[in-house]
Amino acid sequence: MNILNGGVGHTIRVNDKTLSYFAGNNYLGLANDPTLVKDAIKALEKYGVNFAASRQTTGTSDIHLALEKSLAEFKGQQEAVAFASGYMGNKILLHILREQYDSIFADSMAHSSITDGIPCNIPQVKYYEHANPNHLEELLKASPQSRPLIITDGVFALTGEIAPVDKLYSLAQKYGAILVVDDAHATGVLGENGRGTPEHFHLDNAPGLFQSETMSKAIGSYGGFIAGNHELIDTVRKKSTFYGASTALPPPVVAAGLSSLKLIENHPELRTKLMDNTRMLRKGIEDLAFSTTSGITPIIPIYFKEKQTATHLSQFLEKNGIIVPAVDYPVKTSQFIVRITASSIHTEDQIQHLLQTLNEWREKYDTHHH
Ligand SMILES: Cc1ncc(COP(=O)(O)O)c(C=O)c1O
Repeated sequence: MNILNGGVGHTIRVNDKTLSYFAGNNYLGLANDPTLVKDAIKALEKYGVNFAASRQTTGTSDIHLALEKSLAEFKGQQEAVAFASGYMGNKILLHILREQYDSIFADSMAHSSITDGIPCNIPQVKYYEHANPNHLEELLKASPQSRPLIITDGVFALTGEIAPVDKLYSLAQKYGAILVVDDAHATGVLGENGRGTPEHFHLDNAPGLFQSETMSKAIGSYGGFIAGNHELIDTVRKKSTFYGASTALPPPVVAAGLSSLKLIENHPELRTKLMDNTRMLRKGIEDLAFSTTSGITPIIPIYFKEKQTATHLSQFLEKNGIIVPAVDYPVKTSQFIVRITASSIHTEDQIQHLLQTLNEWREKYDTHHH
């Protein structure tokens, strides 16, 4: 395992060496941004490490409210609520929407925070073929009596594919369903203002579409959030025990979130740079004829049929000073993934070095290409 001896940036200190870093989800490079760090320290000094209280008692501070106001503005929504983790967000939404649905249709490659979030008393839970609206429609047709809820990742964590949210939304409308999108990997990345997959598909604030989001990835801080109208957010605050009975987000995390939203708003070039770096990397990987997805998200998978090959490549990269993990998809076991993450803080030299090293590996070891 890689043990970190420092923070994440375009490089990383791992096992006491400095290596080029193409892993994780620090898409905008904000996790260690000096402004975020400075604001987090200020909050740490003013408020301490933790309020050691739930939001409903004495854990709500002025900066929590300021953060939630900023999150709502960022999303173009009336209100927002922040809580301990993005992982919790799906559970919270599925819980508070419970009275509005009685069957769930989930993408078969949905993130575990979605499958773990499904309440145990749902009469019907079905999985449609990955990113396949036609199959979803067949399943919906076969359950005409039910009030369905459709749930998917907006951007899939390991493959970087964008879910067909436009088509899923049309089906939701046609079959009277609610649509929930976990936008952990899209928030701050996709859409004109970085509002995620709904904005990417021009479905921002569409009725019956709910999002679960995180500050832990592109936003560079930590914690989950949900944005929506007064009624929805009020319901979360009043009904969700996950929100109400867990300790409030720590002050430095809250301050870093606030700081980041300001940066993201004032520096759209962060996203432009991310997209440029992503394009450069994706093009290079395609030119090397690796098996990958085509797309625009900064998660760039290289697919392998055998786990040993993926692991071998990851280890070869590490020997050459680059961290890129091999991850096996728990759902689709026929494929193994070397998951490359682009970030706006990568330099062109660094990207070229990664591509050269990939090429070197391919020429030396990947016999399928010769
Ligand atoms: C799709 C998806 N949803 C939710 C989460 C959980 O978010 P958090 O890490 O903020 O708990 C992750 C990964 O961490 C994810 O990939």
